[in-house]
Amino acid sequence: MTKTGGWASHLHVEAADLIPVPEGIDPAAAETVLVNGATAWQMLHRSASVRAGGTVVVLGANGGVGSTLVQLARLAGISAIGTASARHHDTVRELGATPVDYRDPDMYEQIRKLAPDGVDAVFDHVGGSGLVQSWRLLRKGGTLVNYGAAAQKNEQGNSALGFVKLFGRLLAWNHLPNGKSALFYNFWAGKRRLASFRARLGEDITQVLRLVADGELKPQIAARIPLSCTAEALALAESRTVLGKVVIVANV
Ligand SMILES: NC(=O)c1ccc[n+]([C@@H]2O[C@H](COP(=O)([O-])OP(=O)(O)OC[C@H]3O[C@@H](n4cnc5c(N)ncnc54)[C@H](OP(=O)(O)O)[C@@H]3O)[C@@H](O)[C@H]2O)c1
Repeated sequence: MTKTGGWASHLHVEAADLIPVPEGIDPAAAETVLVNGATAWQMLHRSASVRAGGTVVVLGANGGVGSTLVQLARLAGISAIGTASARHHDTVRELGATPVDYRDPDMYEQIRKLAPDGVDAVFDHVGGSGLVQSWRLLRKGGTLVNYGAAAQKNEQGNSALGFVKLFGRLLAWNHLPNGKSALFYNFWAGKRRLASFRARLGEDITQVLRLVADGELKPQIAARIPLSCTAEALALAESRTVLGKVVIVANV
């Protein structure tokens, strides 16, 4: 797992950071569920601790994290409602979620119709003005897990200020007497306590890779592009047309 520097044919990492990949898993499939798989697993099972029988909302259910989250939810007996553009609805349904079009101005109303009693968790990486709508979808005891701010991506000005406002808002919501909670998930949180960070990550990724090895979790690979064509890989990843991850593979 690298924060940066992974686009290389060779990399020097500490042995303690290595996690065994079960025999027989395609390397591109393993790569697809490392950051995304650990993120999805930890948000579902550690941050929100959703139980079997619960219902969750996954924004961007065709994305790398989202497509993993909806599958992990299904495998844990949790119902998922997934937002995606209409072209991805068939796949989102196959992965196990009820799709809702995020371009529909009544998207939140559609979700409320599907879950009139509210949901146990909303996983929101979009932020912006829609975040309050995500918060309102929760039932009592539900958790809003925010893990990004895609809506703010192209805004001018100081992006750090946007995050300060976001954290302030999440903090304030936690003090409302309505039994709901809100948090920001950060993959790298807790890295200062390296031993426990490594142990937790190793445990979670091992579970995810086991599901892949058993054929229960299907990593969504949008394309495999050689390292020498990384610019094309980035253009495709940013095109907002793909389903799953664009994987850069070493040149042969
Ligand atoms: N906090 C953390 O520790 C952590 C960890 C992992 C990932 N992340 C963040 O999580 C986000 C998702 O990662 P990913 O790997 O799943 O990305 P991805 O594969 O590119 O998927 C992004 C998903 O979000 C949708 N989307 C993008 N912009 C949107 C917008 N403005 N409004 C509504 N939907 C939008 C996309 O829909 P279309 O395909 O229709 O555009 C797609 O479904 C990224 O922002 C990433 O940085 C955070």
